[in-house]
Amino acid sequence: MSLDHPKTPNDLSAFWMPFTANRQFKQAPRMLVASQDMHYTSHDGRQILDGTAGLWCCNAGHCRPKIVEAIQKSAAELDYAPAFQMGHPMAFELASRLVDMSPEGFDHVFFTNSGSESVDTALKIALAYHRARGEGSRTRLIGREKGYHGVGFGGISVGGLVNNRRVFGTLLNGTDHLSHTYLPDQNRWAKGQPEHGETLADELERMVALHGADTIAAVIVEPVAGSAGVILPPKGYLEKLRAITKKHGILLIFDEVITGFGRLGAPFAADYFGVMPDMMTTAKGLTSGTVPMGAVFVTGAVHDTFMTGPEHMIELFHGYTYSGSPIACAAGIATQELYREEGLFQRCADIAPYWEEALHSLKGARHVIDIRNLGLIGAIELEPIAGEPTKRAFTAFLKAYEKGILIRTTGDIIAMSPPLIIEKEHIDQLIGTIKDVLDTLD
Ligand SMILES: Cc1ncc(COP(=O)(O)O)c(C=O)c1O
Repeated sequence: MSLDHPKTPNDLSAFWMPFTANRQFKQAPRMLVASQDMHYTSHDGRQILDGTAGLWCCNAGHCRPKIVEAIQKSAAELDYAPAFQMGHPMAFELASRLVDMSPEGFDHVFFTNSGSESVDTALKIALAYHRARGEGSRTRLIGREKGYHGVGFGGISVGGLVNNRRVFGTLLNGTDHLSHTYLPDQNRWAKGQPEHGETLADELERMVALHGADTIAAVIVEPVAGSAGVILPPKGYLEKLRAITKKHGILLIFDEVITGFGRLGAPFAADYFGVMPDMMTTAKGLTSGTVPMGAVFVTGAVHDTFMTGPEHMIELFHGYTYSGSPIACAAGIATQELYREEGLFQRCADIAPYWEEALHSLKGARHVIDIRNLGLIGAIELEPIAGEPTKRAFTAFLKAYEKGILIRTTGDIIAMSPPLIIEKEHIDQLIGTIKDVLDTLD
């Protein structure tokens, strides 16, 4: 078959779409064909306001010329350089910039291609770190119910979303899970961080008592859980987790794949909450979603543990063909410059109160049973249709798209995370459209 003449150019069947209701989609496809700033263009020529920054990733907005030009230049000048035993300047430049903008104490980054890879990388570093220190019995990895850490075997093993786990066998051995912090009865309608639930962090002490601290390598949590439907950390909870992990020599990993790069109005959630973990996993906003890339931030203390032994020896037997690839690095550098030049993290902080008020104005709208928010993250939880969970929110998503806005749903929760360049009138359009949609929903 000649590639010039594909056999079935418009056949939608070949592409098995990820995390998608394939049969539903292919009956009524929703195709995006172009994007600029806050908008997508749909295949039928409509402007679609992006309420989700793609998938929580296009923090700088779409097709920003500075990033586009950097990608084009790199593609023409240095398309690829081997990632193992060879380097290229942009990888070192981006790593230095990332370290400079991260909380004090993070001195190194390890490049990956996605959030899932960043998570698996961090978990592997945690295991290898303890072994290098002569504490190889620390092999247990602790996650949290409702946690989402991507789709690798490491990520789903510490993750806590049942649909992402149940059909994939026995997963990694030796994991355990803290309780989630979703407490609607106590925290419903809370604006920002909820009051109740700090003591859930004490469960870690129980796990230490049960398993023994000397068997536990790391605890991984999302500072703000996104994929489970936006679950916020109760006041004091992350601080407590940090104190307990530190006390027992357990590494704390923040999965900042959605919170990294400005989503809360600070560079990272670690800055926003003032809680310093031992590692941070990132991706998405690193390149504003343009080129797949992830980065694991590591403290000097963790990194330096590996820098022993003969100097010609590889210190960590881990890496990806595309770790720090030139085009991704070019996109990353341009993205970070754009964030800085336009002050986008501060912009997020400045507009967050307006976002909060607009979201909470939906209290009392039809079907709405809770609203949650932090930074430029928002969740509107709907009452499920009896016997048909997820259907109401999915119908809302389809209707919203017809009316020109892109939202996301998980379970019966509408989740939003717009680009940080959002203007007040965009917020009004998003919230107004959702209100209209809810008014017409069964
Ligand atoms: C907290 C968190 N970790 C990991 C991932 C996985 O990232 P990716 O889809 O790039 O593998 C995601 C994706 O949404 C995420 O939200």
